[in-house]
Amino acid sequence: MTTVLPNVTLIAAVGRNGIIGDGLTMPWHISEDLKFFKRTTMGHPMVMGRRTFDSMGALPGRRSVVVTRQADWSAPGVEVAHSLPDALALVADDEQVFVVGGGEIYRQAMAYAARLLVTEVDQSPEGSVTFPPIDAADWAETAREERSGFAWVTYERRG
Ligand SMILES: NC(=O)c1ccc[n+]([C@@H]2O[C@H](COP(=O)([O-])OP(=O)(O)OC[C@H]3O[C@@H](n4cnc5c(N)ncnc54)[C@H](OP(=O)(O)O)[C@@H]3O)[C@@H](O)[C@H]2O)c1
Repeated sequence: MTTVLPNVTLIAAVGRNGIIGDGLTMPWHISEDLKFFKRTTMGHPMVMGRRTFDSMGALPGRRSVVVTRQADWSAPGVEVAHSLPDALALVADDEQVFVVGGGEIYRQAMAYAARLLVTEVDQSPEGSVTFPPIDAADWAETAREERSGFAWVTYERRG
């Protein structure tokens, strides 16, 4: 059984149709939300899938832990893990850790997360990569800030 880790937050921008990307890039460019992402994650470790790393690289001021199945994969300035539990173990001593995508990694990390920070984007873009469903039986919406074209929504795990 997966143990929920109180220090793990998923942060994602999600379309009305659940889409978060096309496998290469994000479907939108919302500078206000990128600033929110930066100020929220700054100083905290980020865990991401190798494909998301390929799309955004290592971001300054934050440890990047990249999850890959490739035994010989490396990139400057990042730590490598070969499973999600191994990635979360690397950052277990940090009081706040952000899982920053993409779809494959969100899907696996949701079971560990205590909190979700979801930017609900008021668009239904084309794409192939989705955020996993947020089951209201497991997650309570605890905050919502409406902006123009999107909303910042916080979910906390029930119980
Ligand atoms: N809207 C948002 O907030 C947001 C945020 C982040 C990303 N995105 C978008 O999401 C898309 C990328 O998502 P994605 O689902 O295609 O890929 P991803 O989750 O970023 O990365 C998938 C890769 O992670 C590695 N991986 C996954 N599970 C693993 C495991 N259990 N053990 C070891 N390695 C594992 C594999 O890397 P290897 O192939 O190297 O083995 C796999 O190919 C892009 O379009 C990106 O722009 C959107």
